[in-house]
Amino acid sequence: SIMREISDLDHLESQLKQSLPVSDVKVVSGDADQSEEVKSLLGQAAAQTLTQYVHDESIVTVTGGSTLAAVAKHMKPLNQIRPLFVPARGGLGDMHEYQASSICVQMAKQMNGSYRLLYVPDTVGHEVYSKMMEEPAVKDVISLIRQADIVIHGIGDALKMAHRRKADPKQLELLKEKSTVGEAFGYYFDQKGKTIHQLNSIGMTKEHLTNDKTVMTVAGGTSKCEAISAFFKWGTSDVLIIDEAIARHLVKHI
Ligand code: BG6
Repeated sequence: SIMREISDLDHLESQLKQSLPVSDVKVVSGDADQSEEVKSLLGQAAAQTLTQYVHDESIVTVTGGSTLAAVAKHMKPLNQIRPLFVPARGGLGDMHEYQASSICVQMAKQMNGSYRLLYVPDTVGHEVYSKMMEEPAVKDVISLIRQADIVIHGIGDALKMAHRRKADPKQLELLKEKSTVGEAFGYYFDQKGKTIHQLNSIGMTKEHLTNDKTVMTVAGGTSKCEAISAFFKWGTSDVLIIDEAIARHLVKHI
């Protein structure tokens, strides 16, 4: 029966490779909403997949979140390969382990690579934002983000992420009113992939998601199904690492 399950996942992967504009798809069994074990499998699969793309000169830019934290846990040193990790974004919320910066440090340590940090809040007011973007230390990291050849990022359910970021009631109301379903890189988008709200965020923007980068998208759990479907209308990804719950949803809805 294990053989059957494996071939079932293989089948899902090849179906998705055909119907989505991605070059590779990895599917792990289960539903990350149901068990931590699945999130860990997802992390393992993503860490493993990264080894196929990373080289010694690589600059890898990473977002935060519990999924990316699981990826970091599974990274291992690769012979002669010492990539540079940079956070795609500043910090958010109060969970130290889920900050892009903390994840960068862990990834670099586990792969014997190096890292740079972005010591700024994830979102700031307009005025502070333009001032901060002029800071040499910030500019430096932004330029590394621009040069990055690999992006690894998570996706969130819009309202869940808005709560995690302690959005004010007015903002939450707007997100609900406009049927916002997903969030990535600080952008909140609806089912059609239209940006409804964008955080004044320090770090990576959609404009940095250029064709020369390999974008790896890692997500699991039934609660993110709609967010993922919408993400493909909002942006692009090259390598998709998901769980079975999302894979089954995608084959039906794409
Ligand atoms: C955040 C990213 O830190 O992690 C978001 O900046 C993403 O863009 C989120 O949506 C996903 O979090 P999690 O815990 O579901 O992996």
